[in-house]
Amino acid sequence: MEKTMLKDTLTVIHERKSVRHFTGEPVSKKDIQYLLRAAMAAPSAVHMLPWIFIVVTDKKMLELLSQKLPFAKMLVSAGMAIVVCVDPRQAAMGKEEFAILDGACASENILLAAEALELGAVWTAVYPSKELMDEVRQLLNIPPAIIPLNIIPVGHPTGEDKPRRKFKDNAIHWEKWRTRTVL
Ligand SMILES: Cc1cc2nc3c(=O)[nH]c(=O)nc-3n(C[C@H](O)[C@H](O)[C@H](O)COP(=O)(O)O)c2cc1C
Repeated sequence: MEKTMLKDTLTVIHERKSVRHFTGEPVSKKDIQYLLRAAMAAPSAVHMLPWIFIVVTDKKMLELLSQKLPFAKMLVSAGMAIVVCVDPRQAAMGKEEFAILDGACASENILLAAEALELGAVWTAVYPSKELMDEVRQLLNIPPAIIPLNIIPVGHPTGEDKPRRKFKDNAIHWEKWRTRTVL
């Protein structure tokens, strides 16, 4: 990992945003490797690592996926996409819940690594829609026992997408639960 990171960790966390507008430039093999290594550095219940990552660079496949996924139209202009999958049989206690949690942690690492590399990325939903999971399984030849959790289009951002303000003081309860006055 010799690449010099330009931004510190907290800056990356706060500047991460869903990027849905891409220049169309390809993502380098080296950057794809950084994203995958970041994904697999995520925490995983009982260190089971139940994840599988399908790297899609083929433009035709990106187009086909975008046609099937109503909220992933940006796939057509992305440089590539990572389909984050999990195998519940390989997860803690063989549970789907743990597989999903582990896959979500790996996904967030991909999103943060993309920001650090000055790329853009966005989580597009597949799970828990049975219909979408089946469409994605069919297109990418994924066995029925494997859950395609999401598709993360990655590309060079145009700069249109900006981080959103989310901090809410009333989401924090110090020491114990307090009744909220504003719901
Ligand atoms: C479980 C999950 C599903 C999401 N599904 C989609 C999706 O299908 N398409 C999309 O464009 N964004 C999707 N998003 C991204 C959210 O819309 C986005 O994170 C949210 O609006 C906050 O904006 P930000 O990521 O820029 O901070 C999803 C995010 C999560 C965590």
